[in-house]
Amino acid sequence: MLNEIVALHKQCFPDKPWSENDFMELKKSGCEIVSSKNGFIVWRVVADEAEIITIGVAPDARRNGIAETMIILMEQELKKQNVVNVFLEVNEVNYPAIKLYEKMGFLVAGKRPKYYDGVDAIIMKKAL
Ligand SMILES: CC(C)(COP(=O)(O)OP(=O)(O)OC[C@H]1O[C@@H](n2cnc3c(N)ncnc32)[C@H](O)[C@@H]1OP(=O)(O)O)[C@@H](O)C(=O)NCCC(=O)NCCS
Repeated sequence: MLNEIVALHKQCFPDKPWSENDFMELKKSGCEIVSSKNGFIVWRVVADEAEIITIGVAPDARRNGIAETMIILMEQELKKQNVVNVFLEVNEVNYPAIKLYEKMGFLVAGKRPKYYDGVDAIIMKKAL
């Protein structure tokens, strides 16, 4: 399973691929990692808040609703755990991701200047 998610992550983030060890460390730190043939999502719950750590869909499988479905399934899981807010950070030039989060009801909650190699991160938040 880990080698599949590593390969998929590399397709989604070719400039910053994560290793099997990176994913094992995330798991150890309490993250939930859900992956399938074409997509993955990683989130972490702390008290009644959750953070989406990463999400990716294979390039040739995009625009089929896979990311949307993964977020819906994550939210169903979070509601069962009484999580009330979900937040995330996204590179301000990552148009597809920002559009995805907007469609899923996330709102801009702030900015982290120069977070990604000199590019600002937008913080987005959704109340469940
Ligand atoms: C962002 C990403 C996960 C979206 O995955 P996806 O499975 O293609 O997204 P979906 O098909 O579920 O799209 C849901 C909605 O998001 C928006 N969206 C997704 N991709 C978009 C694009 N390229 N341009 C504009 N809007 C887009 C649309 O509103 C879309 O709904 P619609 O198809 O009905 O218009 C995918 O592009 C990806 O893996 N990108 C590289 C990794 C990445 O940047 N991850 C996010 C890090 S914060």
